[in-house]
Amino acid sequence: MGSIESTPTTGVIVTGGASGIGRASAVALAEAGRPVAVWDLDGSGAEKTAAEIRERFGVAAVAQGIDVRERDTYSDAIDAAREALGSIGGLVHAAGVSHPVPVDSIEDDDWNLVLDVNLGAELWLVKALLPDLRENPGSAVVGIASINAILGNGVNPAYGASKSGLLGLTRSLADQLAGDGVRVNAICPGYTDTPMLSEAFVAAPALRDRMAAQSMIGRLADPSEIGRVARFLLSDDASFITAEHLVVDGGVVRSQR
Ligand SMILES: NC(=O)c1ccc[n+]([C@@H]2O[C@H](COP(=O)([O-])OP(=O)(O)OC[C@H]3O[C@@H](n4cnc5c(N)ncnc54)[C@H](O)[C@@H]3O)[C@@H](O)[C@H]2O)c1
Repeated sequence: MGSIESTPTTGVIVTGGASGIGRASAVALAEAGRPVAVWDLDGSGAEKTAAEIRERFGVAAVAQGIDVRERDTYSDAIDAAREALGSIGGLVHAAGVSHPVPVDSIEDDDWNLVLDVNLGAELWLVKALLPDLRENPGSAVVGIASINAILGNGVNPAYGASKSGLLGLTRSLADQLAGDGVRVNAICPGYTDTPMLSEAFVAAPALRDRMAAQSMIGRLADPSEIGRVARFLLSDDASFITAEHLVVDGGVVRSQR
């Protein structure tokens, strides 16, 4: 809290804001004074994040229960966010599903779920937000990809494809929107201590230590360590960074030999 400030001061929509990296991004942005709209399938979790933000930081925060696959709900949700926050000049797309199904048994529904939530939603959200992003100086978008975008994922091809696709989408949107003053970037987090991974640890408790050992730093990331990078990429401190992805993984990718 205290002296951290962020420019621009426009509002930010954070998908997946009820939990993990999305929640941490919303908190980090609000800590710097940016109003946030917390969107999530888990509407009560989103409200919990928004209430905590209002209480801790005294900035505007509004919650929205929403399935990011339901594009026809975007317009009303964006109107509500604009009204509550005053303006919208940023998007963090952190809503995501893992849903591991190997190539032997994957079906259309598995593929579509992962691609629609992790990848497609960012395209459709940016399309819906174009008037706001173009209107507000310093607007920026951050997509939460994964080190799987670089390394692949042998047991979850849809996830790996969705995350690699997000890097391609990032570069394409950045190229088109740079002339409008809108920057578009991605973060590739490494193993991060969120409910998404906790589920896997229940089935395979040794996995936590194995993942920690893959990082040079020897531990999982705390979600706040990703949220602060999202805040940076949305701020004017990152004013010359676009079409880029930042790998925030404690050295996992670089230590692969
Ligand atoms: N945890 C990790 O190790 C890790 C590593 C790299 C990338 N990521 C990515 O970070 C992002 C956030 O994941 P997390 O680890 O915080 O997981 P998480 O499960 O804690 O949070 C994901 C959130 O997305 C929401 N969500 C899922 N489907 C949705 C939909 N259709 N509409 C709206 N909201 C939906 C969930 O309700 C949940 O609140 C994901 O894209 C994930 O792939 C996570």
